[in-house]
Amino acid sequence: METRLKWYAELRNGMRNQSVVSRSNRMRRKMERMKLMANHDPLDSEQIAAMAADPQVQELKRGLFNKACDYRYSYNFKWLGRPIIQFPQDMVAIQEVIWDTKPQLIIETGIAHGGSLILSASLLELLGGDGRVLGIDIDIRPHNRKAIEAHPLAKRIDMIEGSSTDDSTADQVRAAAEGKSPVMVILDSNHTHEHVLRELQLYAPLVTKGCWLLVFDTVVEEMDPDAFPDRPWGVGDNPLTAVHEFLKTTDRFELDREIENKLLLTVAPGGWLRCVKD
Ligand SMILES: C[S@@+](CC[C@H](N)C(=O)[O-])C[C@H]1O[C@@H](n2cnc3c(N)ncnc32)[C@H](O)[C@@H]1O
Repeated sequence: METRLKWYAELRNGMRNQSVVSRSNRMRRKMERMKLMANHDPLDSEQIAAMAADPQVQELKRGLFNKACDYRYSYNFKWLGRPIIQFPQDMVAIQEVIWDTKPQLIIETGIAHGGSLILSASLLELLGGDGRVLGIDIDIRPHNRKAIEAHPLAKRIDMIEGSSTDDSTADQVRAAAEGKSPVMVILDSNHTHEHVLRELQLYAPLVTKGCWLLVFDTVVEEMDPDAFPDRPWGVGDNPLTAVHEFLKTTDRFELDREIENKLLLTVAPGGWLRCVKD
């Protein structure tokens, strides 16, 4: 009986001590959070870097990204009525870079339903200048073309049907970019290494200093190797491997890590490139 009473007393003391410790931990975390919340400065680079370096955040991010892709998450959205095959986080970042750099021309490979063309065109319209979007796709489906041409923002959009890596397409794009500045390029067509590398060679020279070269679906490199059974790209053969090879050949572009770090969920890790030289 006495031993049991002693055991109960020890257990009670242990629990009390434990709850004092966990209460003080909770209090400390609460204070830290309150300090963070009191800082209303937008875009705190230190916090962004700390968040991205947090292994728990990275693990949760990878888990959510891969799981959401099982459900074709990137197909869930529209921009001003047109389906757009992007993550909402990337759409926000595209908005930020277009608004900051005010391109006169945005060249986009990969039109699909036209949502990304409409996104770019809507921002150019709000900016109010003479900015235009030039979309290129190997296969512009008639119903997509019709819907894009009927859209209120069609006046800002030009389209070329053809492979983005064909010489004749590249000639037309170069002609359209002649004398334009700033020029921004977004690559989102065929995601094989060979194709993206060729697109980089053809279109990166058109990007003007201070503007952006966005290479989408670099995330393929981080994904489950079985994620694309019916596609020619995969781990080791994708936009990121192309970007790595391309960056060895030029010093005109700098990789921006802050954008992908703040987005967490992005299809373009290692694909946000800023042009730093003429
Ligand atoms: C991922 S979708 C583009 C999505 C679009 N940018 C958006 O955000 O909604 C890829 C598109 O690339 C096109 N494509 C595939 N190979 C191509 C090539 N060689 N040249 C140009 N476009 C190509 C496909 O027809 C498809 O419409």
